[in-house]
This record gives sequence, structure tokens and C-alpha cells, in this order.
Amino acid sequence: MALRPIVKEGEEILLKKSRPVEAFDDRLGQLLDDMAETMYAADGVGLAAPQVGILRRVCVIDIGEGLLELVNPVVTAQSGVQETLEGCLSSPGKCGITRRPKKVTVTYQDRTGAARTITGEDLLAKALCHEIDHLNGILYATHVIRWQEA
Ligand code: CO
Repeated sequence: MALRPIVKEGEEILLKKSRPVEAFDDRLGQLLDDMAETMYAADGVGLAAPQVGILRRVCVIDIGEGLLELVNPVVTAQSGVQETLEGCLSSPGKCGITRRPKKVTVTYQDRTGAARTITGEDLLAKALCHEIDHLNGILYATHVIRWQEA
């Protein structure tokens, strides 16, 4: 495992769309391991591959309930609204209140390629939306309704 540098806001790669993962190999496993280590070291709750310079549809999330590894995630259902504080490891020292769905269902693949589904509410729903946005080149600022002093 290895820490990878986190790309900061202003870098063009964060605005690009990531490509689907097709090979569920050791290289993917290494990327997932490194992303988890990098996320934990930065005290984050989520990290997407473009944030470590890789334009692949991969993200990791841990809201304190264990590590989630999501490959090729897609939001398949959403409901409700939440307006809560949100930030991003690529934008240190900034945060804002965003408007997000309160509940989302996401289909994805695990590191072996097996199909999985997860439904998350509140913080998990926000994290899922935030990380999947990264895979589409969308930053959370798009969803900010009110900036806050960090
Ligand atoms: Co982010």
C-alpha cells in the first residue's frame, strides 16, 4: 500500500469524466488499497480515483461504518432532500451547505467484478453522490447553496 498525492481544485483532471473499469485485476486492487490508505491518512470520508490522478470509475467511502469500495457505481434511485455541510479533500479549508438527496440507491461492482447494490441515507447518501459526481467531473461546489467559513 502507498499514499498517493491528492489532486487539488484547479487541476483540470478533476473536471474530466472517468472511464469505466473493465479489468478487475491486481492493478485495480492496488488502486483501491492506495485510495483507502490515502483517504484515511487525510481523515476523509470518501475519495474518488480522479483525486489521485486516475480517470477510472472507482471510489472509496467510509463514514465510520467500514470501508466501501465502489467500482463503476451508478445512482439508480434517489429520494428526499438534505441540506448539510459538505467539503472535499481536493478543496482544503473550504466547505458549504449543499442540497443533496436524503436517500440514494447505487449499483456498483466490487473489486472482483461482482454486482452489488447499496442504499444509503443522510451522510452515506451525501458521500455516494459526492464521490460519483467526481467520476463525472463534477465538484461539490455545484451543489452549494450557501458557503460557510471553514
Ligand atoms: Co471530493
